[in-house]
Amino acid sequence: MEYQEIKSRMQEVLARPVRPIPEDKLEPERRRYFEQHKRSLDIFEKAKNLIPGGVEHNLSQNKPFPLAMDRAKGYKVWDVDGNEYIDYLMCGAPIILGHSFSPLDEKIIELIRDKGPGMGLTSEYELLAAEQIIRHMPGVEMVRFLQSGTEADMAVIRIARAFTGKQKIIKIGGSYHGWSDQMVYSIHLPGTVNMQSRGIPDECYAHIVDVAPNDFDGLEKAFKDNQDKGGVAGILVEPIGGESGSHPVHPDWNMTIRKLCDQYESLLIFDEVVTGFRLDMGGAQKLFNIKPDLTVLGKIITHGYPSSGAVAGRKDVMSVCTGSMMEKIYIGGTLAANPISMAACYHALKLIEEHDAVGKATAYANRLTKALNDLFATRPDLGFFVYNFGPIMHYVTTAFFSVSLSSPDALDQINTRRKTADDYQLIGMSQGLCTLAGTRMYTCMQHDDESLKKTVGIWEYLLSLIPKG
Ligand SMILES: Cc1ncc(COP(=O)(O)O)c(C=O)c1O
Repeated sequence: MEYQEIKSRMQEVLARPVRPIPEDKLEPERRRYFEQHKRSLDIFEKAKNLIPGGVEHNLSQNKPFPLAMDRAKGYKVWDVDGNEYIDYLMCGAPIILGHSFSPLDEKIIELIRDKGPGMGLTSEYELLAAEQIIRHMPGVEMVRFLQSGTEADMAVIRIARAFTGKQKIIKIGGSYHGWSDQMVYSIHLPGTVNMQSRGIPDECYAHIVDVAPNDFDGLEKAFKDNQDKGGVAGILVEPIGGESGSHPVHPDWNMTIRKLCDQYESLLIFDEVVTGFRLDMGGAQKLFNIKPDLTVLGKIITHGYPSSGAVAGRKDVMSVCTGSMMEKIYIGGTLAANPISMAACYHALKLIEEHDAVGKATAYANRLTKALNDLFATRPDLGFFVYNFGPIMHYVTTAFFSVSLSSPDALDQINTRRKTADDYQLIGMSQGLCTLAGTRMYTCMQHDDESLKKTVGIWEYLLSLIPKG
């Protein structure tokens, strides 16, 4: 689906009243959720006293309580009560080969058994992993490994400032670049500025310039107006739009940014934490044929194994990471580039290429998108629709991501729409469908005809609970 169609269909959903599931239909579903997940509930009740909120993860079904998972294989996961799910969370995007992919896991088990998990020193796997990334990504000549996407986003800002000698970082509203002090600014929803987190002094945002997605004039103005205020060191961009494409960008957006970066001698930074090795082996930069100066990586580069993050890019820019005190920038981490992560990176990227995992996951996502849109077309009163960027699928049912903060009842709208999306997600989960935050689905190369049929069947059931109107 093209950008214009996505945007106008989002606006159509937003213009319609939200379509909640009536209480008499919702109540038995809620009851079933409690009945089916007794052990999960027990774990949650105990965890609440030891872990704030009783759970760390905010990506999946946490209402009325989170489900504790037991194991995963292929495209399926099972919870501690033995319930089976078709998984489209895929660990939040890192998994594309399928869960517990033996050819990868065997390599890691072998490493731990024969060599040990880490010594705090470099290993040959670090070189092999870097070679894999550089081989595929057009904008990458050097790589520095860190421990998470958040860390890599923090590091990339420091690198950009050190290289250019400039101060300001442009951040696009709605995009997510981890949870560091500087970056929790207008995340998830454009224009929310500092509303998402307490505990961050306003000074942390002093050099962050917030630009709304697709605001071409505002973008140019941000480069221009900040020339005398420290200059723009770089602009951080999710190349398919904020929140992995929840806020899709105009087809000219990325190229316009590239040109402005060249004009104002600022660095273009693609955050490819989700798109790298998922959208294409060469990331969005290869697919869109736009070379960033710096790239942020994470998630899929270790395929679900811990410590997943890297900054990569032009050799001259990346070289600010080296040198003596006063010359270099300081970044690091005890477990950065540990052998497990590096072996996982090397073998995972090789396997993804050998199995054409991106091609297969994309083909499946295209089929599922069509099948769901065909189903949604049978209920024109709802306006629901699905769009995808390769194996990254978004479904729009309440369009809470599109609510404009300038509307007078914005917060009420967001809350009501979010709640209804949560109710849909609860029913999906009870029926065995695991998605991300009630709006997103990641596919892997092992999703098949059976998973497609079941997924459509669960949506059919869900639609049957929403009264026609
Ligand atoms: C585009 C993007 N950048 C950065 C991050 C942060 O990565 P991590 O969760 O590894 O800190 C995420 C996480 O979802 C992301 O989607």
